[in-house]
Amino acid sequence: MLRMNQVDSHAAFRRRLIPSPERPLQLAVIVPVLNEAANITPLIAQLERALTNLVWEIVVVDDNSPDGTADVARDRGVIDPRVRIVQRVGRRGLSSAVVEGMLATSAPVLAVMDGDLQHDEAILPKMYEIVARGGYDLAIGTRYAGEGSTGNWSASRARISNFATKLSKRLLKADVSDPMSGFFMIRRTPMMAALPHLSTIGFKILMDLVASSPRPLRIAEVPYTFRERLHGDSKFDLKAAQEFGVLLLDKLVGHLVPVRLLLFALVGASGVLVHLAVLGSCLWSGASFRAAQIAAVVVAMTGNFLINNLITFRDRRLRGMRFWRGLLTFYAVGAIGAVANVGIGTVVYRLDGIWWLGGLAGVAVGLVWNYAASSALTWRKS
Ligand code: GDD
Ligand code: MN
Repeated sequence: MLRMNQVDSHAAFRRRLIPSPERPLQLAVIVPVLNEAANITPLIAQLERALTNLVWEIVVVDDNSPDGTADVARDRGVIDPRVRIVQRVGRRGLSSAVVEGMLATSAPVLAVMDGDLQHDEAILPKMYEIVARGGYDLAIGTRYAGEGSTGNWSASRARISNFATKLSKRLLKADVSDPMSGFFMIRRTPMMAALPHLSTIGFKILMDLVASSPRPLRIAEVPYTFRERLHGDSKFDLKAAQEFGVLLLDKLVGHLVPVRLLLFALVGASGVLVHLAVLGSCLWSGASFRAAQIAAVVVAMTGNFLINNLITFRDRRLRGMRFWRGLLTFYAVGAIGAVANVGIGTVVYRLDGIWWLGGLAGVAVGLVWNYAASSALTWRKS
């Protein structure tokens, strides 16, 4: 039996936690996480302290972390309706995780924050003030303006971040001091308007958003100090840096050519250099032209395969047995592409008599064939 005062406090507790017509949901904090089990509980406690005057929820978006991050969040979710979880299996990526978290909540204002306690939750109420009043679409937590700082970063990490910040500012013509920030708040309406235009590649969702919004966003900045990580490891690595490059490319030329095709073509062009280098050195060491040309083709194709496997099709990277099977299909595709290249090139040359036009036509057909066939065959989606 519940005693009367217990019923009362229970009701008060529910009123505080559960949105209602009188107190509708105001804010969702989207937190992408990968192996942050030790950080979830302190994070929720910090949000609870920071957001006392708001009706909020947290959406933890976990990419099936082996350390059981999702379970920690669920253990909390069964006693606290503000804690929600989206768990993705077989998929990865910070940007896409954030987008899916945003789509899973009804809140009219969306915050994005790291799950490793490095972002200072104390500025959330201020961000909310700024955004909810409607004068601004987006509030960005910045480390590079006013009182903001990156805390105790190593010189090399600071340099890399600095460089990437400058690069993205220049390319995107965005006038924000910290375009690489992973800490921001946006109203749902402008977010939904930008959504279909996002690349959602890699790490930099904010940059993607600012660059993709169909109309310029009204942006405010709120300084904070980036804290040090206490538990778990950073996921920022070579892959993240590479994806950053791909995102920049996509924002620059993605509306003209698919970035993957562009990368494929660049790899192909670098293959020409490899080809010439091998051909030259074989001839120099006394091989016959025929033998040297065969060696050059094999080395260049193998090199192209390796680089495409690492970069162009990094999301479908082949390993183990599938690597070798992929290499063979890549040779086969390339052989057919070469035949098509020569055939079409010759036809065009005969029609118009312009040697370079024939050559280019052959290369274009070969490129498109190689790209289409190897994405369907060598790096097929499994
Ligand atoms: N769901 C999901 N999937 N979460 C991820 C993934 C992923 O593939 N990769 C990283 N995360 C989560 C981490 O668990 C963490 O909560 C947050 O995303 C940021 O990752 P960190 O690994 O802590 O990144 P960082 O501290 O090196 O980078 C921070 O600073 C950058 C600027 O230098 C982040 O705030 C970045 O967003 C920011 O650009
Ligand atoms: Mn971090």
